[in-house]
Amino acid sequence: MTKTILITGTSSGYGKAMADLFLARGWNVVATMRRPEPGIFGNASDQLKILPLDVTDPDSIDRAIADGVAAFGGIDVLVNNAGIGLASAVEATPDSTLREIFETNTFGVFATCRAIIPQMRKQGHGTIINVTSSVAIGPMPLVAIYTGSKCAVEGYSESLSYELDMFNIKVRLVEPGLAPTTRFAANGGERMQGLIPADYQAFAHGFFAKMAQYPTPYCTEAEVAGATFLAATDEGQQLRYLAGADTRLLAELRWSTSEDHYLAKMREMFDPLG
Ligand SMILES: NC(=O)c1ccc[n+]([C@@H]2O[C@H](COP(=O)([O-])OP(=O)(O)OC[C@H]3O[C@@H](n4cnc5c(N)ncnc54)[C@H](OP(=O)(O)O)[C@@H]3O)[C@@H](O)[C@H]2O)c1
Repeated sequence: MTKTILITGTSSGYGKAMADLFLARGWNVVATMRRPEPGIFGNASDQLKILPLDVTDPDSIDRAIADGVAAFGGIDVLVNNAGIGLASAVEATPDSTLREIFETNTFGVFATCRAIIPQMRKQGHGTIINVTSSVAIGPMPLVAIYTGSKCAVEGYSESLSYELDMFNIKVRLVEPGLAPTTRFAANGGERMQGLIPADYQAFAHGFFAKMAQYPTPYCTEAEVAGATFLAATDEGQQLRYLAGADTRLLAELRWSTSEDHYLAKMREMFDPLG
């Protein structure tokens, strides 16, 4: 029987690449976005349903799930991909911006998970995949709010995976690395204006320049889509699916060495003069 996946945030970047890959592999795809743009997927297909879904709007989540189920008879996999970025100094970040990040990256994910669980329980199976980030494994400076929003999803997902085992529902994480090719950095540009005050500028310039010479290749949309496909089809109990050389590097440093060694290496990496 043909499987069905519902993905949030498919207007660009990783989400668009995921929708393309699952379609190419013969899945039914419920591609959701805030403002549906049917043109971005090329030719219409019976296996593709494009629906409006804003993760900060619970009614739109319920409608998209109901319409997806009506179209394809069920939803086997939910991917929480929608997300927004922020680089800022904590002391300069207003509450409104902090809350905006959490509304989408954290509470939006919690809301879609809660909404899909009754449907997956009714079906007797399902997989929920939450897209976080390499910074949830190796937090970096000047992205504390974003990192907090993604780390919250990591702990939530691990806890939920045990809670839903008895219903044959898997909960998994896809952890992508940095990809400057998506709209991610540009989308956050306006939100970040003025949030790195003068006293942080020298550090920020040095740090961002150092990161631009990051010793690993950037993550690609294809890697993230591939990791998501694996997470959607894997029969085992794996929780994390890493995508990108930078994520793998951070994971190895964090989990294959001592905490002291890991912290010393991270400090070395973040010393703009080092
Ligand atoms: N690119 C990176 O370096 C990177 C690294 C690690 C993790 N990630 C994560 O990967 C995921 C995808 O990011 P991306 O790099 O592909 O960036 P992107 O090209 O900006 O895509 C983000 C998607 O999320 C959507 N979105 C934003 N707010 C939404 C909301 N309230 N409701 C529904 N959709 C919403 C955007 O839709 P609109 O077109 O409506 O804005 C867009 O489709 C995010 O969760 C991000 O945190 C990205």
